Amino acid sequence: MSFSGGWRLEAAVKRFGGSRQVTSYVPEGIRPTVIVLVGLPARGKTYISKKLTRYLNWIGITTKVFNVGDYRRRKTSETSHGFFDPSNAQASRLREECARLALEDVSHYLTVEGGEIAVFDATNSTRRRREAILKQCAAANFSVFFVESICDSQAIIEANILDVKVNNPDYRNLNDKEAALQDFLQRIQHYKTEYEPLDEQNAQDSQLSFIKIFNQGERFLINRLQGNIQSRIVYYLMNIKVGYNRCIYLIRHGESMLNLLGRIGGDSDLSERGRTFARRLGEWIDERCCDKDRPPLRVWTSHMRRTIQTAAFIKTPHVLSHWKALNELDAGVCEGMTYEEIAEKLPTEFANRDKDKFNYRYPQGESYGDLVARLEPVIMELERQSHVLVVCHQAVARCLLAYYMDVKHADLPYVRVPLHTVIRLTPVAYGCISEQISLDIACVDTHRDKPVNTDVARSSDDALSTLPEHY
Ligand code: ATP
Ligand code: F6P
Repeated sequence: MSFSGGWRLEAAVKRFGGSRQVTSYVPEGIRPTVIVLVGLPARGKTYISKKLTRYLNWIGITTKVFNVGDYRRRKTSETSHGFFDPSNAQASRLREECARLALEDVSHYLTVEGGEIAVFDATNSTRRRREAILKQCAAANFSVFFVESICDSQAIIEANILDVKVNNPDYRNLNDKEAALQDFLQRIQHYKTEYEPLDEQNAQDSQLSFIKIFNQGERFLINRLQGNIQSRIVYYLMNIKVGYNRCIYLIRHGESMLNLLGRIGGDSDLSERGRTFARRLGEWIDERCCDKDRPPLRVWTSHMRRTIQTAAFIKTPHVLSHWKALNELDAGVCEGMTYEEIAEKLPTEFANRDKDKFNYRYPQGESYGDLVARLEPVIMELERQSHVLVVCHQAVARCLLAYYMDVKHADLPYVRVPLHTVIRLTPVAYGCISEQISLDIACVDTHRDKPVNTDVARSSDDALSTLPEHY
């Protein structure tokens, strides 16, 4: 391991100085976007809305879901299927009113609260409703992208209802799950009487930007895609795989020689305790992951010695790949230093990092924001796979966990990911369960908490003047 020499460190800080990156992913001048879901009940609209919003926030686009069902539940406790019958005039008026209120909040979010994308989660199943949305969005200069989910498999629809509907707030007081299922199926029938899917042959619809998703991604239809944001959304929606029969294990490498010394970065070997962890991990995976009915476990490491050595004892049939994208955050000129050394020799850099750790970029190195961008292809591939063990590093594991657990950028760099601990991620209906399993092998703690007072302003001259001659 080579440490940064004094002249190099000083020159680099002078030339490159740690910097903050632009925090928004959306280029300036781009209009706010409203993503409008379309589809009958129990077609996965809320699932898609929540998942897409989590992804967009993770890549740095400020996004929020507006679920019209939530507005309805605030206005009325009526939930039986008759409420959704289009011939029930009073209920229809109330439903329109809820959609209008939600749209007002969308507008406020995009014009006053700094939101960049709003996801309007409702059935929006008639052209009349969609025209009203388009009119309001045109007046506010929002661009509109429709996402329609179409599903004609009765098995999928009933599974969806049993998965998320019979236990949702609408049926809180109904213990009979079969009665809830039947009531929900009747609700769907009411919607069917009025439903007008987006139709690329229709003169009006053909002018709109939309994606239609058929039977959970069996097939897609894309119409008039506009701009980078819509392309990113479509790319994501085409990659996500519905179904929960999967599991992702996320671990950091075993304790390394540099971890023992409290030094960051580098490419050192495992310590003795790190090697013990690697052997224990091999046994732990062999005991749990040799189910013959599942595809072989995929084991992904970074290109660094400590992750490759950590995966070396796994015997379970597996497919091993090494991803450069999984390498640890590059600490630039601070590679190989301890936090104490950085605080002493580069106090301004150190203070700037504490002030805004997510956006702070090490001189000649990376920020957590850079890392999220580097990890996007890894997330896309994880979405396609069903059974993966990712052996990575502290900062990388924080970014991956933040995607699954919807952690805000400001909190992301402080997520605790201890060494010698397996994190099991299990997707569930509208999110993910995360469990930490310690394999009980002693190790150092490399976590540094957010300091309480991060307002210490220092000039960069101060920082450079503290560098000793020989450094
Ligand atoms: P509602 O109109 O009543 O709010 P919804 O369309 O929002 O219903 P969800 O609550 O999102 O339906 O349904 C969640 C279920 O949909 C989950 O079980 C999920 O696995 C499933 N699902 C996710 N994506 C799709 C899809 N593209 N097609 C069909 N089902 C899906
Ligand atoms: O200390 C271990 C380590 O993986 C370093 O290599 C890396 O720079 C650091 O963690 C990232 O954590 P933080 O962003 O909290 O400094």
